[in-house]
Amino acid sequence: MKSNASQNVTLNLQTLPFHLGIIMDGNGRWAKKRLLNRVKGHEKGTQTVRSIVTVARELGIGMLTLYAFSTENWARPKIEVKALMMLLKKFIVSEREVFSKNDIRVNIIGQKHRLPKDVQKEIDITLDLTKNNDKMVLNLALSYGSREEITNAVKLIAKKIKSKEMDPNDITQDLISNHLYTKTMPDPDLIIRTSGENRLSNFLMWQAAYSEIYISETLWPDFSKDEFIEILKNYQKRDRRFGKVSCSTSNDG
Ligand code: FPP
Repeated sequence: MKSNASQNVTLNLQTLPFHLGIIMDGNGRWAKKRLLNRVKGHEKGTQTVRSIVTVARELGIGMLTLYAFSTENWARPKIEVKALMMLLKKFIVSEREVFSKNDIRVNIIGQKHRLPKDVQKEIDITLDLTKNNDKMVLNLALSYGSREEITNAVKLIAKKIKSKEMDPNDITQDLISNHLYTKTMPDPDLIIRTSGENRLSNFLMWQAAYSEIYISETLWPDFSKDEFIEILKNYQKRDRRFGKVSCSTSNDG
């Protein structure tokens, strides 16, 4: 149960997470509970995407990464994959003017080349149209999986070593980060997962080393702006130590 006390705390717009990742889970269960086809859950989930992108932009979140389709999701029934690709394409086309108007830059992380050609084409148009926008980055994780991303990075680095462009001793954590799909992006400060599941499911596993995690019991299609704001307030109360001791317990202040 939510306490009134927590609802009365105001959100501090100066200390929002810069990079926020969301694992949008529970579309299928939302549909099942209503005796609907799973695709109806994804359709309703797309409406939630719209409203959360809008509120994230209004609040001033710098970067929002949405886990929209994983490398493992290709193994779902063909009809569901097709429906998800169709929804994605519709979203990317219908929202591109909104992104432009609101200064949102769209970026893709994942295996873009595996997506259907027509989806890739619409993505490219949206990427190009929004490339100079600088108020928020909307990262869509599509055909994304951390293990594939890390494997890909290892291959890129191995090729550079083979061609003598670099030496094995040049390999550092920063170098590995710079060969991931998220190169140049800061690590996520906060990762929200909906539907009560307690796992990362191959999402930003390298990047999430020190991310705060929040598990919401709400199924993604029911996830609201109000709950989103409550989660941000919860994040603001946390003490992020990154493996060190907190300032208040440290002797050297
Ligand atoms: C997980 O729910 C959700 C997905 C695999 C896809 C997420 C897609 C959307 C929210 C809609 C399209 C995206 C965009 C960006 C327009 P699930 O199907 O695994 O749910 P379940 O665990 O209840 O079965």
